[in-house]
Amino acid sequence: MEVKEEVHLKVEEKYQPPAQLVERVWIKDYESLYQESIKDREGFWAKVAEELHWFKKWDKVLEWNYPNAKWFVNAKTNITYNCLDRHVKNGRRNKVAYIFVDEDDREKKITYGELLELVNRIANGLKSLGVKKGDRVSIYMPNTIEAIACMLACARIGAIHSVVFAGFSEGALRLRIEDAKAKVVMTATYTKRRGKKIDLLATVQNAIDGLGFVEKVVVWDRDGDVLNGSGGLFVSLNELIKNSSPECEPAQMDAEDPLFILYTSGTTGKPKGVLHTTGGYMVGTYFTTKINFDLHEEDVYWCTADIGWITGHSYIVYGPLACGATSVITEGAPDYPNPGRWWSYVERYRVNVFYTAPTAVRMFMRFGEQWPAMYDLSSLRILGSVGEPINPEAWQWYYKHIGREKCVIVDTWWQTETGMHMITTIPSYPSKPGKAGKPYFGVEVAVVDNKGKELPPNTVGNLVIKTPWPSMLRTCWGEPERYEKYWNTIPGYYLSGDLATYDEEGYVMILGRADDVLNVAGHRIGTMEVESAIVDHPAVAESAVIGKPHDIKGESIKAFVILKKGVEPSDHLKEEIKQHVRHILGAIAVPDEIEFVEKLPKTRSGKIMRRVLKAQELGLPVGDVSTLED
Ligand code: WTA
Repeated sequence: MEVKEEVHLKVEEKYQPPAQLVERVWIKDYESLYQESIKDREGFWAKVAEELHWFKKWDKVLEWNYPNAKWFVNAKTNITYNCLDRHVKNGRRNKVAYIFVDEDDREKKITYGELLELVNRIANGLKSLGVKKGDRVSIYMPNTIEAIACMLACARIGAIHSVVFAGFSEGALRLRIEDAKAKVVMTATYTKRRGKKIDLLATVQNAIDGLGFVEKVVVWDRDGDVLNGSGGLFVSLNELIKNSSPECEPAQMDAEDPLFILYTSGTTGKPKGVLHTTGGYMVGTYFTTKINFDLHEEDVYWCTADIGWITGHSYIVYGPLACGATSVITEGAPDYPNPGRWWSYVERYRVNVFYTAPTAVRMFMRFGEQWPAMYDLSSLRILGSVGEPINPEAWQWYYKHIGREKCVIVDTWWQTETGMHMITTIPSYPSKPGKAGKPYFGVEVAVVDNKGKELPPNTVGNLVIKTPWPSMLRTCWGEPERYEKYWNTIPGYYLSGDLATYDEEGYVMILGRADDVLNVAGHRIGTMEVESAIVDHPAVAESAVIGKPHDIKGESIKAFVILKKGVEPSDHLKEEIKQHVRHILGAIAVPDEIEFVEKLPKTRSGKIMRRVLKAQELGLPVGDVSTLED
């Protein structure tokens, strides 16, 4: 990790939010509330928490035993009560919770009342299979209402869900099921993408082969015929729903009881199981959704992420539901059957708040502005960005061609680990293209060098968080030492792994990862994960993976590969290796480029110096190579 260079940024334009929008935002004065929230962090979050329902209130807002935090100590609640029952009891029974559209443009709507019943039925079904509080349930399902209901059903009874992105393939899925020791796996017969059916059930069958601890696989049979008479390990979700009661008391959860595990890439070959708990996560996602997207009762909200990632957990499922919002969700590709798909939905459903990733914006830029121009996007008020730095060019395009120069853009920086937005503008103060904004309420950040010395403005350093926040990760599943590493690498600070700088006005600009984690199309991918998938191929002796700048994906993967003695390099072999990675990890981790080499730069202790490879590849100065072996 090198933190030396200094940047002098040009002064950019500031974009003021439209006056009529500012008039009704929830929070008008960022500065004074921010100061208040820092002076009395606990009082601030307690006031937010009061907006939600607790079976029993907390004795204490925060117990901070560095680096371990407990929020809302001894409070009891259930997140599904806040996401569902609370609304049903308060006049939102018939309000639409989700509008789902698939690639064939088939629509399905579900109200809060109906969603509560569906969740209860599945929860009762899970109970009938012996699932208890604290048991892990892996969910490998497409971005659908049914998948969301399965997540909520787990939360209803206190089971810990571990959602695995349905684009991962069997190796990645198996690892996650195995690590969590899931008692039950929930899946669907298939998903559809670009008109093709992708068999999810077959992937699950292969992934759990020989995993004796998996007691049941619950399958959402999308055509209602596959599972007839299968019995045994496989149970039909359809049958479970049909045969269960629509009433299920929410489990009384302690604020610190685990809610979910979500695996994310780190700097080793094994992804880490980020663990989030109930109370603080609920408070953080509820408040950030409401404030940063300025959600009001009649709004239609659309986050284009997938439930397989943290953005889906926090800003498709828990945040919007806690707010009682109406959300759009879709299954399939954004540009299929044509690049007008998303914009046609904005027009049809009069979407007010739209939240997507820079990689999608860049993809639509390439398709051309004629696509969004065909639709009435005048309902849009707020546009969000997440997952990677948004380059000013893409920002401007988003502003102009989607927002029609009438919307606010919030560029939200956060992580799987943080659970909620940590740095962003809120809709009442100006944004600057390419800069995420200022720290969120109750959040204190700094840019520090490797020794923890705080750096002045316009200097690049490590982005750290100085104090605990409610929706912070509590541990890494089964690996507490990996959790501690966040807090003790630079003692006293939570190390985000990102490089950043801030300007005189306190706007933070994120420059990307400082570690061996790639960000490909907004997805975190560990270089080591890809390397071990490549090395798993019988022809490969060694491999090193780097990220290269890419116009649309932000980064693309390049792999350097040393073949085993006697193996002839060929294009066919490159293809085979790519296929192998696809099989083990999934399409998102497949290298764009493979180069066969004889040697890799290594330190004397044998560690691959990816930094050197990357500098060479990009024609940049190689930097300090004093530790290079040869
Ligand atoms: C990157 C996704 C710049 C960053 C929510 C972070 C961003 C990683 C932004 C976390 C943003 C996320 N600007 N970079 N607005 N949002 N990132 O865990 O490198 O999948 O560390 O969470 O994405 O990725 P994760």
